[in-house]
Amino acid sequence: MKVLITGGTNGMGKGAAKALAKYTGEKNEIIILCRSEKLGLKTLDELKMNDNSAALSIVICDLSVMSSVKSAVLEIRKKHDYLDSIFINAGLGYAAQRIETVDGMDSHFQVNYLSQFYLMVQLLELLENSTRGGRVIFNATPGGKMHWDDVQMVKAWGYEKAIQQAMAAKRMLLLNMHEFYRNKEKKIAFVGFSIHKIVWSNQLNIIPTHMRISATVMRAFGMFISIEKCGEIMAPLFMEDGAGISKKSGSLLTWKKNRFEKIEEDEEILNEMKRNELLDYCIQRCHDDSTGEIVGKLAQ
Ligand SMILES: NC(=O)c1ccc[n+]([C@@H]2O[C@H](COP(=O)([O-])OP(=O)(O)OC[C@H]3O[C@@H](n4cnc5c(N)ncnc54)[C@H](OP(=O)(O)O)[C@@H]3O)[C@@H](O)[C@H]2O)c1
Repeated sequence: MKVLITGGTNGMGKGAAKALAKYTGEKNEIIILCRSEKLGLKTLDELKMNDNSAALSIVICDLSVMSSVKSAVLEIRKKHDYLDSIFINAGLGYAAQRIETVDGMDSHFQVNYLSQFYLMVQLLELLENSTRGGRVIFNATPGGKMHWDDVQMVKAWGYEKAIQQAMAAKRMLLLNMHEFYRNKEKKIAFVGFSIHKIVWSNQLNIIPTHMRISATVMRAFGMFISIEKCGEIMAPLFMEDGAGISKKSGSLLTWKKNRFEKIEEDEEILNEMKRNELLDYCIQRCHDDSTGEIVGKLAQ
């Protein structure tokens, strides 16, 4: 399987990369999209120690800068004629204050959602070329909502609110994409995955001391899992055949009693009018006519 992972240099993305690099009997190809070349290359070295049969590469992309995402798309398209899956995973977590990006957006909205919306839309053609069942796996959690009157959170910002809004947006996107593709000849599956425990990720190095202390206590009570364990749980979503993943398309899944289980979606996420409103908003924010054209053709 050829898998593109956003945010593969740390946390859940790195956990997935590790699991896929040593997946039993498979010679997978892993492309890590990362903002730091140094960290990207260090991650590849770590993955090679796991198992050197996987083909590994990096693509430099800062998701908080739209021009960087556009360059990454061109690079990926130049180097690859197909992809079997994309893991929409990279994300900002804790932040002390709202940061506005050079593109004039709330950084959580742009990094966690909009840039990856653009990346995915622009790479759909490569997923359509997969012979093993193209798929997009979204790292998503339930809950959260869109703040329609203040999407960029200029009036009222909070890091948790910003993370959750991006999660709601991802789930709306995956449902729209699932609807678009379900009657198409060339199939792509769109699946959300919500890990059932908290993952001991790089976030633990970023949060303030008091939060780290309570996390350490919670860890002692088994409330966290490692990035490696998380990757092992997720790996089948990337590895199963087209027919298998196709049955999961349009769902938000979690892991319960050693199997994937569907989470019922919120009313707002299921609301087609609201989803289309978000789609239009995002197309405008990408400032690239081709994004609207691709989505427009899909919606026909
Ligand atoms: N941890 C959990 O329990 C948990 C549970 C459910 C969902 N999630 C979600 O999982 C995703 C990953 O979180 P995590 O906990 O694994 O966090 P993490 O360890 O901090 O990893 C975040 C990843 O995103 C990358 N990233 C951040 N900003 C970027 C940018 N501007 N451009 C490119 N890449 C960027 C990071 O790159 P660097 O390595 O360069 O920092 C890193 O690889 C997030 O969307 C989070 O909301 C986490």
